Amino acid sequence: METITTFGPLTPAAEIAAAFPSSVQGKNIIVTGVSPNSLGLATADAFACQSPANLIVTGRSYDKVEASITSLRSKYPNIQYHALIMDLASQSSVRDAAAKINQDDKIPTIDILVNNAGVMAIPALTLSEDGIETTFATNHLGHFLFTNLILPKIIKAAQRSSTPTRIINVTSFGHQFSPVRFSDINFSKRAADLPTAERPDLEKTEFFTGSSHAEDTYYGFFSYAQSKTANILFSVALNQRLWAQYGIASFAVHPGAVGTNINRHATPSEIEQALKRAAELGFDAASKTPEQGANSSVLAAVDPGLSLVDVAADEVTGVYIADCRVDDANVARFATNGHLAEKLWSLSEGLVQQKFE
Ligand SMILES: NC(=O)c1ccc[n+]([C@@H]2O[C@H](COP(=O)([O-])OP(=O)(O)OC[C@H]3O[C@@H](n4cnc5c(N)ncnc54)[C@H](OP(=O)(O)O)[C@@H]3O)[C@@H](O)[C@H]2O)c1
Repeated sequence: METITTFGPLTPAAEIAAAFPSSVQGKNIIVTGVSPNSLGLATADAFACQSPANLIVTGRSYDKVEASITSLRSKYPNIQYHALIMDLASQSSVRDAAAKINQDDKIPTIDILVNNAGVMAIPALTLSEDGIETTFATNHLGHFLFTNLILPKIIKAAQRSSTPTRIINVTSFGHQFSPVRFSDINFSKRAADLPTAERPDLEKTEFFTGSSHAEDTYYGFFSYAQSKTANILFSVALNQRLWAQYGIASFAVHPGAVGTNINRHATPSEIEQALKRAAELGFDAASKTPEQGANSSVLAAVDPGLSLVDVAADEVTGVYIADCRVDDANVARFATNGHLAEKLWSLSEGLVQQKFE
């Protein structure tokens, strides 16, 4: 249960961090996907205002990471900032970045990891250098590998600290459009050729976009939805491994509709239509600023009152957060199923060719 129930969709993230200063002060925090005008930068900014010891800012572009650190340093000069260049779509880049964290004695623990970076709606099927569909490789698999490689430092934080040790995966309401296609991660099949449990929601897709995309093998919003479902299942699987033993919790967070660079691959008319449809369904689709959009990530990272209801259940509750509230009503069952979370863990281990237990 959230400690403060008056926080809502438009609460600025900094206000939330300020309500729980001891969860941030003197801590070591990593945020992925930090660049100007992004949720990553707004999230890092909210942490920075409560004086963490080390703020590790990751991105794939050196210039964007440096620009972000310059803006953070101008407001909060007394924090140690670390630029970590990591292309999440490249397993060798992720391994290099994780090795830098693991070898840095000035950062003995990681208290909070926010897996925030993401890409949406790449128009045509592309594969990463490791041969994996780029959206899944970036949004899920890169974060899966990075988190597991630096996990010893996260566990060390939990063993030393009485404040929350958290792993946050930034997902999206858009996960509802597709389960993980375990038999077709790389999009070679039409929906009708998939097992029923792996099919995207064609009806909902038609309602939101005007076309069901039933005949497409690849569709950019399906690849995004698959990856965002994987983000939630990854939180479920992390909790199954880490909550009882170490008290480390993982939450999956939907930020809301936020004016960032996420729409770079989508046409404005597609986005406009989808938001209109969301409003028709009763969802609050009003655009938030990045400072507001980062609020649920920060809440999930710092509020000690949040606890997982039942990590062992088939349908895990308490793991999905939106608008600063646990939001079990709006998370798809295929995204909170403990067996599917285990299946995804095994699949991911296979794809990175390393076991993590
Ligand atoms: N904005 C929204 O309305 C909304 C709604 C629901 C969920 N989300 C989620 O919120 C998260 C943050 O997105 P945002 O809205 O802040 O979008 P954004 O402004 O596009 O930021 C995304 C960040 O991810 C980085 N990134 C993309 N591909 C990467 C890769 N291969 N390796 C490393 N970093 C990579 C981007 O770096 P580059 O700039 O170098 O590409 C950028 O820093 C995403 O996970 C997204 O799915 C956003």
